[in-house]
Amino acid sequence: MKSHDHKSAYIKTFGCQMNEHDSGKISILLESLGYRMVETPEAADLVLYNTCTIREKAHHKAISEIGRAKFYKHKNPDVIVGVCGCVASQDGEELFKTCPHLDIVFGPDQIHALPDLLKNAAEKKRAGAVTLVDAPADYVFPDFVDEKKRFKASEFVSIMKGCNCACSYCIVPKVRGREVCRPPDEIVSEIARLVRAGTKEVVLLGQNVNAYQARRSRAGGEMNFSGLLKKISLETEISRMRFASPHPKDVTDELIALYACEEKLCPHIHLPVQSGSTSVLKRMRRGYTREKYLETVEGLRNAKPGISITTDIIVGFCGETEAEFQDTLDMLYRVRFDSIFAFKYSSRAGTEAACDMNDDVSQKEKERRLELILEFQKKVTLEKNEALIGSVQNALVCGTDRMKKGLLTGRIADNRITHFAGHERFVGDIVPVRIIAANKNSLSAEVV
Ligand code: SAH
Ligand code: SF4
Ligand code: F3S
Repeated sequence: MKSHDHKSAYIKTFGCQMNEHDSGKISILLESLGYRMVETPEAADLVLYNTCTIREKAHHKAISEIGRAKFYKHKNPDVIVGVCGCVASQDGEELFKTCPHLDIVFGPDQIHALPDLLKNAAEKKRAGAVTLVDAPADYVFPDFVDEKKRFKASEFVSIMKGCNCACSYCIVPKVRGREVCRPPDEIVSEIARLVRAGTKEVVLLGQNVNAYQARRSRAGGEMNFSGLLKKISLETEISRMRFASPHPKDVTDELIALYACEEKLCPHIHLPVQSGSTSVLKRMRRGYTREKYLETVEGLRNAKPGISITTDIIVGFCGETEAEFQDTLDMLYRVRFDSIFAFKYSSRAGTEAACDMNDDVSQKEKERRLELILEFQKKVTLEKNEALIGSVQNALVCGTDRMKKGLLTGRIADNRITHFAGHERFVGDIVPVRIIAANKNSLSAEVV
């Protein structure tokens, strides 16, 4: 028997930044329980899957990975296997039936319950599938930031959880519950400690981050998202602020104006448009029109010339005609996004679209539309990257390049990944670099 101090844990993370951040919190919690985090599942005493169910493919991937864990369990019956994240939230205790080798299931808001669940599992009690979707209004956001430890140059900070939107295609409100915001002072306190622990940049996280309202937090009060950004800028020594993901309908004039005057706010916004067709947007319940979105883009570009704008697109949504699809292509043509993520529509059980609309665009047609979108964008992304050649930018050095020795990886203010030669001691610093070459998805540079 290995001693408790030497237990090892492995987490595999799927899905969005919220899951990535949650996995980080789980790791800190496990380390405080004496676990050592490892990079491979084979020899771990605890194997956790932090899962995503945004599209059918993501769900399948999670289930098939979880299935693989039965081999680890077969080799060593003392291995504890757990599932958390959005599949756990969606399927709950049903997962014990589909995956009989599972010991633990917990939802995104039950990280704090993990020590108890582990105790039960060690006693071979397969109890406690705590999956509670709507967090109470007095929900306390887990905070494991210890200023005596070293944190990364760029860290996520949760400012709210859940989503009150009702996008007809989206499973997130069902698996992450209603919005609960975090009190402004707690956010500022966490960022201040991160700064003391070496962090230079924070990415404020929420499913609809710019819908932030302090009145929906335990503390109450009147502060919106722009107010929160100002407060963080004023009351902490953080160098850079980013956020993900904002909703176009909640981009206020006040937020746009901040881009013009708030130096710490990075010149980048990921603003998911989903479709360029007003009629599709209406069926998606997005709450804005094509014209309104274009107006927002123009406002942002006037406030902050050169701001990088990236987006998400869904092709082949219920009833999407060729003309509606062409409107999306036209949107890409007009806006010239800096980069995009594009997806084929995937029907999710329990959403409005799955219940009341027809998933009637064929798989083949979805693929054709996706190809056209990606092909068009590939050119624009490269052209936009090339336009930066010769310019001097400030890169936040995030780490060393895994592929090439002596190369560093950083992000310039507009979020583009940039590689350049330099000493490891620069990791965590902001250094000026000159862009010397553009690649498909990144830039090459030299330190000036
Ligand atoms: N809360 C964020 C991210 C939502 S999920 C936001 O609202 O921006 C990330 C992206 O996945 C979405 O922007 C959307 O483009 C895509 N997506 C969501 N549901 C989908 C579905 N059912 N089928 C295909 N893509 C989907
Ligand atoms: Fe889903 Fe819409 Fe909420 Fe984003 S804003 S998480 S797409 S429901
Ligand atoms: Fe996936 Fe859940 Fe995020 S469904 S995209 S991990 S909120």
